[in-house]
Amino acid sequence: MRLNNLVTVLSALAPLASASPLGALGLASWDIEGYAKENPVGGTTTGGKGGTKVTVTSPAEFSAAVAGDEPKIVYVKGEYNFTAGRPKIGSNKSVIGVGKSAHITGKGLDVINATNVIIQNLKITNILDNDCITIRNSTRVWVDHNEFSSIFDVNIGPDYTDGQVDIIRASDYITVSWNYFHDHWKSSLVGNDDKLRDVDFGHLHVTYHHNYWRNMGTRGPAGRFGHQHVYNNLYVDFHYQAIHSRSDNQVLVEGNVFRGDTREALSTYGLVIPEDSPNTCVCGDEELDGFANLGAKNDWGNAGVNITRVGTFTKAPYKYKLTPLPLVATIVKLGAGVGKI
Ligand SMILES: *[C@@H]1O[C@H](CO)[C@@H](O)[C@H](O)[C@H]1NC(C)=O
Ligand SMILES: *[C@@H]1O[C@H](CO)[C@@H](O)[C@H](O)[C@H]1NC(C)=O
Ligand SMILES: *[C@@H]1O[C@H](CO)[C@@H](O)[C@H](O)[C@H]1NC(C)=O
Ligand SMILES: *[C@@H]1O[C@H](CO)[C@@H](O)[C@H](O)[C@H]1NC(C)=O
Ligand SMILES: *[C@@H]1O[C@H](CO)[C@@H](O)[C@H](O)[C@H]1NC(C)=O
Repeated sequence: MRLNNLVTVLSALAPLASASPLGALGLASWDIEGYAKENPVGGTTTGGKGGTKVTVTSPAEFSAAVAGDEPKIVYVKGEYNFTAGRPKIGSNKSVIGVGKSAHITGKGLDVINATNVIIQNLKITNILDNDCITIRNSTRVWVDHNEFSSIFDVNIGPDYTDGQVDIIRASDYITVSWNYFHDHWKSSLVGNDDKLRDVDFGHLHVTYHHNYWRNMGTRGPAGRFGHQHVYNNLYVDFHYQAIHSRSDNQVLVEGNVFRGDTREALSTYGLVIPEDSPNTCVCGDEELDGFANLGAKNDWGNAGVNITRVGTFTKAPYKYKLTPLPLVATIVKLGAGVGKI
């Protein structure tokens, strides 16, 4: 009863947009949390903190401002179609959209060979040729309060677009929080090739929390060889397969809510399903199974769960604030996406 009342009160607060009171109420963490905060490779991701502040308003200014390693806070205003190529974000950068104005389209962003990067409050839509964001051989990255979308249409299949946030080549200690991922097929791939065991194994520690996924196909996330802690996310109409752990990957899954037409919430069965993007057979690719552990109770809705191997990832190695399960859907809808920070 008391939780239901709280849901009503929070829903009434929704038009106020700023969800920072959620943090104040102790219902969820608004600040950085998870692997991008607590890690053995430099600690809290601070991005451009202490560096120069610049505001950019054109693609050329954006690309120049995010390059290089010196600390910089880059405020982003307006529309960006990067026809000249994907900007490469260097180390020690915060790239932060202003208000609800920052909109990237056409080509997405790369974080390659970098460390200590924050990407916040950007709307990234209709990236057709590649991922919206690729994080490759990089550590300490916080992807927070962004919105990603294109189109989800069963007739165009999984390869019309690529991923939304793909994390590859031994990248490590990353947090993906409070993003609104919608109307797209493949969301977030962690480890992009089962032949890269030697490169990836023991890396790819990623925290996913308080993200809102709606009208999606697969990979929410799909991991190989690493560890992903997936908590307090909301999945609505995640049509085929949400969380996939394969090729000896480990996931710790807790406090998530699944709704609508969501066939499979969690699977550790190694098969890359035909509705994903198999390389060798339309019937799917065979890979080794992954592992899953369940922490705090999840609400699976009508979705299936196929845990073939229970792993050893029973506890996250950091402190984090778990939202009570009955409040997850309301709080995630209230807090995720752009224009909230
Ligand atoms: C950027 O960050 C890296 C890693 O934290 C550090 O080694 C380097 O000195 C930083 N660069 C500057 C200019 O501060
Ligand atoms: C980006 O610019 C290119 C070249 O002008 C154009 O073809 C494309 O439609 C634009 N993309 C978007 C999403 O506006
Ligand atoms: C990343 O580092 C590798 C190895 O040093 C180098 O070959 C590659 O060009 C770098 N990639 C980028 C985009 O800087
Ligand atoms: C990964 O990035 C580091 C710089 O952070 C670079 O020294 C190294 O060569 C890169 N490795 C690869 C395989 O690109
Ligand atoms: C669950 O995994 C097993 C392999 O252990 C597989 O035979 C079965 O088809 C899977 N179920 C679904 C619904 O994919």
